[in-house]
Amino acid sequence: MFDNLRQDITRNLRDYGPQSALRRAALCLTLNSIHAVALIRLQLWCARHHLPGILASKILFWFFKIEISSKATIGPGLRLPHPMGIIIAPHSVIGANCDLYADVRLVLSHGRKHGPHLEDGVFMGDGAKAVGAVRIGAKAVIGVSAVVTRDIPASAVAAGVPARVLHSQSVAS
Ligand SMILES: CC(C)(COP(=O)(O)OP(=O)(O)OC[C@H]1O[C@@H](n2cnc3c(N)ncnc32)[C@H](O)[C@@H]1OP(=O)(O)O)[C@@H](O)C(=O)NCCC(=O)NCCS
Repeated sequence: MFDNLRQDITRNLRDYGPQSALRRAALCLTLNSIHAVALIRLQLWCARHHLPGILASKILFWFFKIEISSKATIGPGLRLPHPMGIIIAPHSVIGANCDLYADVRLVLSHGRKHGPHLEDGVFMGDGAKAVGAVRIGAKAVIGVSAVVTRDIPASAVAAGVPARVLHSQSVAS
């Protein structure tokens, strides 16, 4: 948990430039993105250790309207610049160094058991959604309000409903 959280914090602070230990501590105390990822890590840690994570998940819901299934897998370096309205379904997989903006939804297709799989470095723009057991390739960029219903190749930039590949590019993680 702490290793993942350390990497989450580093990525969430990356836009704030070089930091002294004091400034880093102040940012950790004040930034919503850090509070949200810390609660997510606590919830998932409790679930893995068969402890009730209900308090963490309730605080996430009350303050951020975020709902994460305890059966989701989330790699290190999760970045949530605007942590609001995010829903992650059971058996979704989020790789390392992914960015999820506000209102991102990773949801199950009706009657199916597996959620979307985001490979490392995927960027899900504001309001982007993925439905069912789709796979979004490493470093793909999913545009604002896109709905991903089919696999997206690595490094693709996709947008629209349903999401279509616009072009291919590499993005920094
Ligand atoms: C998808 C995205 C990365 C594409 O950026 P881009 O590569 O610069 O592409 P362009 O802006 O040149 O647009 C290319 C085409 O895709 C369309 N397009 C771009 N974004 C779109 C979107 N979200 N939904 C539907 N169509 C979109 C454009 O209208 C354009 O269509 P055209 O060729 O018919 O004129 C960008 O539009 C986007 O959504 N970024 C995410 C932003 C975000 O979530 N920021 C976080 C909050 S700060």
